[in-house]
Amino acid sequence: MPNSPSEKALVPFVSVADMMRLVHHIGLEPLLRALTDAIEADFRRWQMFDKTPRIAAHSREGVIELMPTSDGTLYGFKYVNGHPKNMAEGLQTVTAFGLLAEVSTGYPLLLTEMTLLTALRTAATSAMAARHLAPKDARTMAMIGNGAQAEFQALAMKAVLGIDAVRLYDIDPAATAKVARNLAGRGLRVTSCRSAEAALEGAEILTTCTADKQFATILTDNMVGAGVHINAIGGDCPGKTELHRDILLRSDIFVEYPPQTRIEGEIQQLDEDHPVTELWQVIRGEAPGRRDDRQITLFDSVGFAIEDFSALRYVRDQVEGSDFYQEIDLIADPDDARDLFGMLQRAAL
Ligand SMILES: NC(=O)c1ccc[n+]([C@@H]2O[C@H](COP(=O)([O-])OP(=O)(O)OC[C@H]3O[C@@H](n4cnc5c(N)ncnc54)[C@H](O)[C@@H]3O)[C@@H](O)[C@H]2O)c1
Repeated sequence: MPNSPSEKALVPFVSVADMMRLVHHIGLEPLLRALTDAIEADFRRWQMFDKTPRIAAHSREGVIELMPTSDGTLYGFKYVNGHPKNMAEGLQTVTAFGLLAEVSTGYPLLLTEMTLLTALRTAATSAMAARHLAPKDARTMAMIGNGAQAEFQALAMKAVLGIDAVRLYDIDPAATAKVARNLAGRGLRVTSCRSAEAALEGAEILTTCTADKQFATILTDNMVGAGVHINAIGGDCPGKTELHRDILLRSDIFVEYPPQTRIEGEIQQLDEDHPVTELWQVIRGEAPGRRDDRQITLFDSVGFAIEDFSALRYVRDQVEGSDFYQEIDLIADPDDARDLFGMLQRAAL
């Protein structure tokens, strides 16, 4: 068949529908646990990766970013956007897709949807950080911002840390009602609150996951008591933060990749040399995590390429030999590698 693509031309493609089936096949909580472990395993070999702050194209409305990394054997990148105003138009704030490739040939190994996968990997990364930083007996999480990421955050903390209660707040009560509905019957005591202050009552883990293109103040200093772990997800762009600066000054701050977090994270509000600890060093036992029960730990999450790399590789391993993907004719692969033109002519009418 002169027009049929060869094996190298065909790249496994995981569609949104495939991803949804895969998640249900594995089970959401087992998947979140496995993904947490996969990301942690890659954080343990942090030095093997090429690292760069993600490449961001900012506009008045939002940002489009490319997030590449490689461990020398595999290469991955994610395309992701962040448009807080999208929601009002019925569009998502964050959408994504990504690719995994073989370094030795440069040929792609997997193309996949990553909107769902980003929610899963962000939640798994939060759980990984909390596993090392949150108080050991943490059972209650406050969840401020009840948008697309919220249920994933709550369920990852349940699956990995064993929290059993979540206290919700969003400026839009419809968002809170949506999360309460989605989490019903999943083994979490869910309380819908009328203010952020009320949501924080009795919570040992405070997650902020709001979307607003400004320096917002979701938490003020007086709202944060001693001994809590703050999981700050929504401040992830220049000019877009969630915590009052005074909270940062009272916290021990843990980050993914400092050159990126200094530009995008809560710590953009601090001096460039304000001390922070890299999470991978805590995971490797090379830096202390939580030291005592009065300390405030803060994971200043922005999302780093290695987390997406781990997620891409995890998905590739899971779909291999399954029917959770289709093959797409992505790479031109002429019979004679130098005869690209000749291959084109095969389709001439
Ligand atoms: N750190 C990471 O790795 C990572 C990954 C994914 C998304 N994010 C960020 O997380 C944020 C949330 O993402 P999403 O997909 O859930 O967005 P979303 O638009 O679906 O939900 C955001 C929610 O925040 C609420 N909100 C806005 N201002 C608020 C306020 N002052 N108080 C309480 N609630 C408020 C909105 O009503 C909305 O329900 C975004 O800013 C996104 O960029 C970070």
